[in-house]
Amino acid sequence: MLSHILVTGGAGYIGSHTCLELLNAGYRVSVVDNLSNSKFESLNRVHKLSSADQKIDFFECDILDEQKMTEIFQQQKPDAVIHFAGLKAVGESVEIPLDYYQNNIAGTITLLRIMKTCNVKNFVFSSSATVYGDPASVPILENFPTSVNNPYGRSKLYIEEICADIFKSDDSWNMAMLRYFNPVGAHKSGEIGEDPNGIPNNLLPYISQVAIGKREKLSVFGNDYPTSDGTGVRDYIHVVDLAIGHIKALEKLSQNPGLVTYNLGTGKGYSVLEMLHAFEKACGHKIAYQIVDRRAGDIAECYADPSFAKKEINWQATHDLEQMMRDAWNWQSKNPDGYN
Ligand code: NAD
Ligand code: WQD
Repeated sequence: MLSHILVTGGAGYIGSHTCLELLNAGYRVSVVDNLSNSKFESLNRVHKLSSADQKIDFFECDILDEQKMTEIFQQQKPDAVIHFAGLKAVGESVEIPLDYYQNNIAGTITLLRIMKTCNVKNFVFSSSATVYGDPASVPILENFPTSVNNPYGRSKLYIEEICADIFKSDDSWNMAMLRYFNPVGAHKSGEIGEDPNGIPNNLLPYISQVAIGKREKLSVFGNDYPTSDGTGVRDYIHVVDLAIGHIKALEKLSQNPGLVTYNLGTGKGYSVLEMLHAFEKACGHKIAYQIVDRRAGDIAECYADPSFAKKEINWQATHDLEQMMRDAWNWQSKNPDGYN
């Protein structure tokens, strides 16, 4: 049984929701985060929401800091690592690829080297559906070919391949590659949620900021895709469902499965305009938008076949679109300036 989990990037959007689920499930949790894209306040709120007596041991530290990280591992002695820490903006990764490779790939190599030295060989990795590139068909299964066209996606794919090489060399490792589709929403309390810096890159945070009056209108990137209404289709998944997927993956790792890969998605795709109209329902008013050109690198459709995760780890998403939108709006309206 794995009982003590070290979470890198645990103060971030998906990390904070996962820490809460871990605490509530009785795990001991240590977090390493350099707070480059998050605030410690998220973990204060996790403590407020948690039913557990245990508090998170927090370390403000960069995963690239080998010495400090080694000390943390030696002192904390975790059984497993959930690795969220990473930079995640596709467009930015095209501008500053070296920073992405350094932070995401070199950071992960540093982490994995320390894990090996400290004999911690249970690893859950935040991968992404981006590794499927533009799929030949949907829904997407785990055995579909991979293809990437930007440094962010390449960093995810290379890390998956590095993990495969490590496992080949030493099969005492247990590693779960979790390929997330599009995480949205927030904890139903509205206390924790997504708090992007600057102009949001992703659809839901952008719609939320238009709804709250911080931005004028949504730009819909293209309405000439071969989809039902011409706008892009994605598999949006509630962040709490995603967080629970990590608990299920840890349970699997405790059975020594070796290297495993799961899609974490709902299996259902929604278009940009469907998302916009669903959000209008949740917030109770119209949201302004304009159709603009396609965004470079975007694909028409992407949604998961999540049946492998259902079969192997008994996980499936339970929140529907209405709940995702309600919770996203609850967070946004309660925290118009995020954690500030
Ligand atoms: P996030 O930015 O909210 O969280 C990442 C956290 O990692 C932040 O708290 C940040 O401060 C921390 N961090 C970054 N670099 C670090 C470093 N070198 N050392 C220590 N801490 C560091 O992002 P998120 O949306 O919660 O994503 C978590 C993970 O899931 C990322 O690896 C991301 O690539 C992956 N992912 C996210 C999405 C998405 O759409 N949100 C989709 C697929 C995969
Ligand atoms: C969704 C849809 C856009 C913003 C990205 C990464 C992926 C993963 C999740 C980390 C698309 C449209 C968006 C806007 C719009 N992240 N859109 N106007 O592109 O599916 O995936 O985030 O791993 O790797 O690539 O998500 O939220 O940016 O876009 O019309 O202002 O919304 O064109 O159809 P995407 P997204």
